[in-house]
Amino acid sequence: MGLLDDVADVLIREDELRARVADLGGQISTDYDGKTPLLVGILNGASIFLSDLIRHITIPCVLDFMATSSYATGTETSGIVRILKDLDQSIEGRHVLIVDDIIDTGYTMDYLLETLKARYPASLRVCALLDKISRRRRHVPIDYRGFEIPDRFVVGYGLDYCGIYRNLPFVCILKPEAYQERCEGGDPRGVHRQGPGRAPDLRI
Ligand code: IMP
Ligand code: MG
Repeated sequence: MGLLDDVADVLIREDELRARVADLGGQISTDYDGKTPLLVGILNGASIFLSDLIRHITIPCVLDFMATSSYATGTETSGIVRILKDLDQSIEGRHVLIVDDIIDTGYTMDYLLETLKARYPASLRVCALLDKISRRRRHVPIDYRGFEIPDRFVVGYGLDYCGIYRNLPFVCILKPEAYQERCEGGDPRGVHRQGPGRAPDLRI
């Protein structure tokens, strides 16, 4: 069975993503004109979005990556975030733009902003493809936002369930049965990373 068989509903189509990502790239190019921003992609979710985004940025820019994990307790995220991979370079005096796939509770981005702010960047901004604003627990200023989405667990275009579905070219909601079926044979590290607090909302 292919991944397409698991899709219940496409929330954001491929052409909608393409158009919005192009817009964001144009806006970033205008805003940072005359500067060389350092784009910080948050692995693994932002990888697809960032790859497309930078090809719509028409000014010089530099790439770096971070990876984080967040611990979960019971059914809620604890808000404790850990850095699994740090930046390779200093951001002191640099114009830093954090690029992530989705802001959900906001715990991850809040932690990243605090952490990177302490390293004296010249400026620090946030670009997020998706904003699940109804779930927010921490205020996060989003400077560049792709789409606001409802409180649904989504996959595709970089977002995963159990490490799977990142390669779907659109953002979608899965059929309830897909969660059980895919995860049994799925990447156990993916399950661990996701944690109980990331358990998808099965209300379709
Ligand atoms: P936050 O700390 O709760 O804002 O979590 C942000 C991270 O949780 C994102 O970078 C994603 O990795 C993950 N996440 C949150 N919501 C979803 C979703 O609907 N699908 C897939 N991953 C999600
Ligand atoms: Mg992420």
